[in-house]
Amino acid sequence: MTRADEPRARTKSRVSGIPCSGSLPPLAHSHYTQFCSLPIAQHPRSGLEILDLRHFTSADLRPLLEDEVKVWANLLCWDYTGSAEMILRYMDAKFLPGYAAVSRGKVFGYSFFVYENNKGVIGDLFVRDGENGAQDANQQGVERRLLMHVIETLQQSPGIHRIEAQLLAHEAGAASQPFLDQGFSRHARLFMALPLSAAQESAASLAPEIEIRRWTEADYQPSASVITAAYRDHVDSEINDQYRTLSGSLRFLNNIVRFPGCGTFDPESSFVAISRRSQTLAGVILCSRVRHDVGHVTQICVLPEYRSHGLGKALLAATVHNLKQRKFSTLSLTVTEDNVRAVELYKHLGFETRRVFDAFVWEG
Ligand SMILES: CC(C)(COP(=O)(O)OP(=O)(O)OC[C@H]1O[C@@H](n2cnc3c(N)ncnc32)[C@H](O)[C@@H]1OP(=O)(O)O)[C@@H](O)C(=O)NCCC(=O)NCCS
Repeated sequence: MTRADEPRARTKSRVSGIPCSGSLPPLAHSHYTQFCSLPIAQHPRSGLEILDLRHFTSADLRPLLEDEVKVWANLLCWDYTGSAEMILRYMDAKFLPGYAAVSRGKVFGYSFFVYENNKGVIGDLFVRDGENGAQDANQQGVERRLLMHVIETLQQSPGIHRIEAQLLAHEAGAASQPFLDQGFSRHARLFMALPLSAAQESAASLAPEIEIRRWTEADYQPSASVITAAYRDHVDSEINDQYRTLSGSLRFLNNIVRFPGCGTFDPESSFVAISRRSQTLAGVILCSRVRHDVGHVTQICVLPEYRSHGLGKALLAATVHNLKQRKFSTLSLTVTEDNVRAVELYKHLGFETRRVFDAFVWEG
């Protein structure tokens, strides 16, 4: 087994990853990874080691991921099993760059990342607490050390000019220090949920020229154009640079629709708003299934020229109506706290803030 601080050959890592506004990160492309050289891979007293994740197999990581599945279920009403299985497949394929926290031969924490062109995306951070977990060192201390390794590796990777991270399962501030120390900017994000039994279904008053209909594969390209236009000069384009270009928005869509990293895309509860006159898209809402009875809005946006006419409300109403008919219990979403109009809209519709978490961005 190679320690993280031992020099090692550059490893070519190819991860077909997954994404959304708070779960696994976007599709990664081939990249050379140089592992970091922090001199703290072994804790002097606890025997804790920080090791290259790619030395482990799915059998080593499975118990830890089973614990992580329970944490996501409790905190976020999110069935993380599909994502966990995907991570385990990548482990066996030796695809996943990252670090493991190991004590007495057992993995009790890990963090991984993926590459997307000139960007690194930190995909996950999880350290088990309690009896079989971070008993010799506190949980936050181990998280901090894993993050320091991941951040240094990414910052030292040739060609990487940007790093993004969203730690959905961590309270805001809980894991922020290594990011702030390395000059990352920080954005507060809200995880909001709407209990569907309590959701009011008021008839949306839309202009007659607007039609709401179900999302289809034919809406793929036009949806990418709407996303790019909707997020121009928007705070979320600072957090996720995919929104800045058409090709980036297509990658975003591809990750949401075709891969299971942010739940399973649910076309039945995904809709578009169409201008009848021009037959063009004015807005879109995409929804995934993150538990058998929980929907999660992975995207909602309306073109600037169509805003403040109730389209956002009508798109959400269409999704809520569909999920209620199918006996879903909850609809959740994530939103940047500074995106005041969107936050107000969600609150007005009955969404409640369940967690505040951090998004981090570094540009080198
Ligand atoms: C967020 C977004 C989808 C809303 O779309 P929209 O079509 O403008 O939404 P609606 O017209 O249905 O409603 C928006 C309104 O709901 C509002 N609202 C808040 N509280 C309200 C209340 N108590 N009563 C009525 N409306 C309320 C919003 O503040 C906003 O008011 P305004 O139109 O008077 O400025 C749109 O602004 C957008 O695409 N933004 C860029 C992308 C984005 O931020 N997406 C969300 C990411 S989480």
